[in-house]
Amino acid sequence: ATTLGASAAATGRYFGTAVAAYKLSDSVYSTILNREFDMVTPENEMKWDATEPSQNSFSYTSGDQIVSQAQSHNQRVRGHALAWHSQQPGWAQSLSGTALRSAMTNHITNVATHYKGKIYSWDVVNEAFADGTSGARRSSNLQNTGNDWIEVAFRTARAADPAAKLCYNDYNTDGINAKSTAVYNMVSDFKTRGVPIDCVGFQGHFNSASPVTSDIQQNLARFAALGVDVQITELDIAGSGTAQATSYSSVVKACLAVARCNGITVWGIRDSDSWRASDTPLLFDNSGNKKASYTAALDAL
Ligand code: XIL
Repeated sequence: ATTLGASAAATGRYFGTAVAAYKLSDSVYSTILNREFDMVTPENEMKWDATEPSQNSFSYTSGDQIVSQAQSHNQRVRGHALAWHSQQPGWAQSLSGTALRSAMTNHITNVATHYKGKIYSWDVVNEAFADGTSGARRSSNLQNTGNDWIEVAFRTARAADPAAKLCYNDYNTDGINAKSTAVYNMVSDFKTRGVPIDCVGFQGHFNSASPVTSDIQQNLARFAALGVDVQITELDIAGSGTAQATSYSSVVKACLAVARCNGITVWGIRDSDSWRASDTPLLFDNSGNKKASYTAALDAL
């Protein structure tokens, strides 16, 4: 096939991108979006600070805009993210203990209920593990409410939207390392105890400090063997030319080699759309032209 989405669909997968609501009126942007991609993740519009700017007062305008534009182009939506230490509204940052725990479950219930039936999968919990070799949870206000906050978040999301796939999502977990093994152990425990989890997202933010490694396929496969789907959820790779193209190719091939790796999402369309634009990490240049990385990804699908 001649587009990312159609090529991924040929093996039962999707190819998605992060989308910013305020860019949907840019015709270069929306032309590429609607030609190439069949899944979208709101880049910021469904985060806690965007959806609940003051406590128990919800704001869905930008998220709804992304959902309705996706539906009208036969694209599915990955919801992102219900519970996360970052991009919390100020009022939540200042809460702790049972007040924060109830605010979290109230938030999850409201957002997942608002979007019920419209979301393919939710990143229920994002980035809850620490970097480095400790294998520990990341310290955060949510973690301070008790170690069970993650499973409570998943059970709350399941109750609100039983049809949505529920994912745990993190970065620097793409290869086999102490952090990914800690996530693996949590998912294994959840499966054993019946905590509802359907999928694990691997963000896939790569640069020279955290390069694409050869053990990504093996890592995806060990998670899949636990009985969850796996996805690359926020792929971007710093670089240019052949080196960048080769890296994209190897990530796509790693996913295609794992039956339960059912989708890949890049974190933006043009390099200029990227949260780290100076890394030129995406598949289209600032003018919207296909880069070598695009051709490599398409050829690998
Ligand atoms: C980033 C967005 O791309 C930026 O626009 C925003 O300023 C900060 O967040 N991991 C995630 C994403 O899960 O939500 C982050 O997105 C990038 C890192």
